[in-house]
Amino acid sequence: MPNSRWEYSERAIAMKSNVIREILKITKKPGVISFAGGLPAPELFPSATIKEVTNKILTDSPGEALQYGRTEGYPPLREVVAERMNKLGVPCTAEEILITSGSQQGLDVVGRVFLDEGSLVVTSRPTYLGAIQAFDTYRPRYVTFDSDKDGMTVDGLEDTLLTGEVRVIYLVPTFQNPDGRTIPTDRRKLIIDLAEKYGIPVVEDDPYSELSFDGEVPEHMKSMSPEMVVYLGTFSKLLAPGFRIAWLIAPRGDCYDRCVRMKQGADLHTNTLGQHIIYEYLKTGDFDEHLEKIRKAYSKRRNVMVEMMHKYFPEGVSFTEPNGGLFLWVTLPESINTTELLPKAVEKQVAYIPGNAFYPAGGGYNTMRMNYSKPNEEEIEIGIKRLAELFDEALGK
Ligand SMILES: Cc1ncc(COP(=O)(O)O)c(C=O)c1O
Repeated sequence: MPNSRWEYSERAIAMKSNVIREILKITKKPGVISFAGGLPAPELFPSATIKEVTNKILTDSPGEALQYGRTEGYPPLREVVAERMNKLGVPCTAEEILITSGSQQGLDVVGRVFLDEGSLVVTSRPTYLGAIQAFDTYRPRYVTFDSDKDGMTVDGLEDTLLTGEVRVIYLVPTFQNPDGRTIPTDRRKLIIDLAEKYGIPVVEDDPYSELSFDGEVPEHMKSMSPEMVVYLGTFSKLLAPGFRIAWLIAPRGDCYDRCVRMKQGADLHTNTLGQHIIYEYLKTGDFDEHLEKIRKAYSKRRNVMVEMMHKYFPEGVSFTEPNGGLFLWVTLPESINTTELLPKAVEKQVAYIPGNAFYPAGGGYNTMRMNYSKPNEEEIEIGIKRLAELFDEALGK
């Protein structure tokens, strides 16, 4: 091979492949009911309206919509996003909004702005794997805190912050990917108080709070302390992930300016046409109705999944029952290793993600993440029965 003597960067050599993407390849076999992905239901995409607004844009203003744009984002879209965020209780102005290529880029920008090799990142275990993958490029170390039913626990957090080595506290505080847990208001306040006391930024990664099934969500951490929190929101789960359009809200001044410069170096700006389409779509006034529709559908699917789990899962298997988002978390007796069990699951035509993938420092071997937004109700029923059978066999029942 002529390129066999190329030297790769230490960063590239250290980067592992994303376990989930590897697993998703196996689970795409025909006939397999997959609870492994994290995809929104494609049949619910508002494609007819998107087609209409796209036609309108390409008829009325193709020159602007297909042109280079500003790094900060399409100004009217930033305005509308700021308005929406204020309605949701997050105080911000359009000048603090940076439109990013998915929240995944927001995470990369956070990494570029805050992390050096060896810097500490505080997060929960389990946590969102994609954040670890984005941060890993900058080679930080992680201090992870266990989760209880209310998300990340905080025992020992102050001692860790006291080391002076922590650069960011990264959290998905509402309907977390992967476990569906939500940190309640009092624990959020505690974390914010400590962040303020030690001057550490909190990254509030929030793709799911607008997918609350009963409309209840605790106060956003960004609202509790706007100057201490970098907030990430995205249209991926609310509208369609293929747009790759999301937003980062950073305190004005140094932090915001650095985020803009880092993004500029990566991709100059987010896809202009997509930003125009989302802006025009929001102007139609259909978005709230669409959100209501997907909340209802996901809530029904969650109910079916939970009901089936209660009915068929053997004793000793427990699971979270989130009131929003796309995922729930199953914990099996410690004798079961869900990574080892996966090939047998695929043989039975059902798939999940082993929970260990969400533990940056190892652990969670007897857990799994289950998605309920993509499979329909019938598939959920059949798939949970298949899993229950598998658990019975594995537990010798
Ligand atoms: C917690 C969390 N953050 C960020 C992302 C990335 O979202 P986006 O599609 O906006 O890049 C996801 C996607 O699943 C997620 O679950």
